[in-house]
Amino acid sequence: MKIGIIGAGNIGSLLAKKLDAAGHQVKLANSRGPESLADTVAGTGIQAVEGEAAVDADVVILSVPFAKNPDLATVLAGAPAGAIVVDTSNYYPARDSKIPEVEGGKPETVWASEQVGRPLVKAWNALLTQTLAEAGLEAGAPDRIAIPISGDDAAAKALVSDLISVTGFDTVDAGTLEESWRLQPGTPAYCTELTADELKAALTAADKKRAPSNRDAIMASFSKPGAEFTRAGAVATNRSFSA
Ligand SMILES: NC(=O)c1ccc[n+]([C@@H]2O[C@H](COP(=O)([O-])OP(=O)(O)OC[C@H]3O[C@@H](n4cnc5c(N)ncnc54)[C@H](OP(=O)(O)O)[C@@H]3O)[C@@H](O)[C@H]2O)c1
Repeated sequence: MKIGIIGAGNIGSLLAKKLDAAGHQVKLANSRGPESLADTVAGTGIQAVEGEAAVDADVVILSVPFAKNPDLATVLAGAPAGAIVVDTSNYYPARDSKIPEVEGGKPETVWASEQVGRPLVKAWNALLTQTLAEAGLEAGAPDRIAIPISGDDAAAKALVSDLISVTGFDTVDAGTLEESWRLQPGTPAYCTELTADELKAALTAADKKRAPSNRDAIMASFSKPGAEFTRAGAVATNRSFSA
């Protein structure tokens, strides 16, 4: 499959490497140009590109800071009409500045979809970089971690779920994009490393009103003086604040 990834940071570059290793044709772009990706793509089949990551893609993965999504409309205008577009982004107002519609309750990926002018599938947003890097298992492995997926197109979600499996994780369908607040920061499904059965319960238990304050409290606890960020500590904190 031809996969274009826009955003080559923690998540985009890891996805590129995993999907390349699984035999997909991966193009990867960032904002600084292909030369800056030389180290990332060295020794892989990944092609570092300028603006053409989406041109002939079957799947385009957007993995940029949330507030940068509007910048991607131009690149996506060149993507094939049938390409499936995936959003990995999460809204953190301290980083992204406040976006009134999202503050007002519009699900993050609904906003992103409006900005980029394409239907989106929300995926890979609810796992830590470290989880993606370290915790993937073969399909069928006991206690394999599951991640949620949202979107309005069942066929697109099925295809993205297959790609998620290649990256080491099971998938739980969390419903439509309008329901995708259930996998946003501050919810029990967000970066809590659950199995599929546990994740289904977590999605059901999500509280839309509480999630933003949970998110902000979690971020405040990570930035306390002397706080050390570890995968286990972050998962425990996420679980405890969102319970
Ligand atoms: N980190 C996590 O644990 C995690 C987990 C799940 C989801 N997420 C979400 O996934 C998204 C990416 O996270 P990350 O941690 O990978 O971010 P990151 O390390 O900050 O990387 C962001 C990438 O986006 C690129 N970028 C920014 N604006 C762009 C533009 N206009 N065109 C093309 N590329 C652009 C940057 O390129 P330059 O460096 O060249 O500017 C960089 O490669 C965020 O929304 C984040 O909230 C993060």
